Amino acid sequence: MELLLGQVLGFDGDHTAPRIDEGLVLDAGRIVAVGSADRLRRDFPQARVTDHGRALISAGFVDAHVHYAQTAIIASWGKRLIDWLNTYTFPEEMRFADPAYAADVASRYFDLTLANGTTTVCSYATIHPESVDAFFAEAQARGLRAFAGKTCMDRNAPDGLRDTVQSAYDDSKRLLEKWHGRDRLSYVITPRFSPTSTPEQLEALGALWREYSDCLMQTHLSEQTDEIAWVKELFPQSRDYLDTYEAQGLLREGAVFGHAIHLTEREKARLREAGASLVHCPTSNTFIGSGLFDMGLAQTLRVGLATDTGGGSSFSMLRTMAAAYEIGQLRGNPIHPSQLWWLATQGSARALRAEHQIGNIAVGMEADLVVVDLASTPAIEQATRRADDIWQAVFPTIMMGDDRAIKAVYVGGTLSSGCRSAG
Ligand code: GUN
Ligand code: ZN
Repeated sequence: MELLLGQVLGFDGDHTAPRIDEGLVLDAGRIVAVGSADRLRRDFPQARVTDHGRALISAGFVDAHVHYAQTAIIASWGKRLIDWLNTYTFPEEMRFADPAYAADVASRYFDLTLANGTTTVCSYATIHPESVDAFFAEAQARGLRAFAGKTCMDRNAPDGLRDTVQSAYDDSKRLLEKWHGRDRLSYVITPRFSPTSTPEQLEALGALWREYSDCLMQTHLSEQTDEIAWVKELFPQSRDYLDTYEAQGLLREGAVFGHAIHLTEREKARLREAGASLVHCPTSNTFIGSGLFDMGLAQTLRVGLATDTGGGSSFSMLRTMAAAYEIGQLRGNPIHPSQLWWLATQGSARALRAEHQIGNIAVGMEADLVVVDLASTPAIEQATRRADDIWQAVFPTIMMGDDRAIKAVYVGGTLSSGCRSAG
């Protein structure tokens, strides 16, 4: 049993109801109490005390859309989506046929995300079943709650990076039965996006999803205008991009659509009716030049936040919050720091339908935590000196912070190694 002291940030409901407490108590991987330091010391006299001083203690970050297999090609220059996939992404993903390479990248990937305070990710693997095994084996060894699935593609991808209707179904099913619900792991049915799946493959994955209806399904939607025009050519019978999924049983609660920037009114209405989730990937949307996500959609839809590594340009959810803020500004919507933080924790957890387990500091939640130094660099430290409320104190770290701000990370109540300092 451990008592952590600091500025403990939780939310009672949504981002309009943030709460700051002085401490929390961890036991057997869960948060068992939250409150004032005096009360917690009195009620839990046997607890070991770790005092994090003025640091912010938050739920660990939840990154709702990543491609762990793109770790090595992050920050590749000069291309837009389809060219970027063909030039950088597909050749790199080809290497994951080698299980040793997949294991090496999975380990490096989790080192990087944990150093950035991210305790749960939802990842695309590659078409290779071995890449899913490598991801889950590494997440399991580290005790992480993690989501992933085999990326399915049966057309418009190079030789060596295509499956078929049948193998996509069979491999996904086998991996799902192997990993889903094991420890803290969840399998996600994962067609890459409509341009790389035939309608028959989408239909087979829709059938699989009906068989395992408690899983999530993730894919990409309306990221770039060129991509949308291509989808129109490939699916002349479809009403719009969303319809290419909807027609195959891939639109309902538990569907998680990455990007979703250039949506029609019909698509927005259907996403709402279906109870689907969207994921905002701001550093990716600027880096690949995709467009400006409408955060107003978060009023009526589950919206999460994500790095989209390696289309995104950072592993850090702090950098991702900063990019979301800047995109909000470009759209005339300055997003409050409370909402930015909420999106990176509980918002993403809600998008993954895991909000009862992760993404918040409250009694009963799993103890995945990040301890954030709010004065991690001289520039940030001097900007916080005149702060007279918590959000003025946090916002410079959101806008200028990175892995140097991450003092400690707890996974399932255990201090994770590899952070800058644990004290
Ligand atoms: N659309 C289809 N595949 C991808 C991918 O790997 N990254 C991004 N950003 N968009 C995609
Ligand atoms: Zn993506």
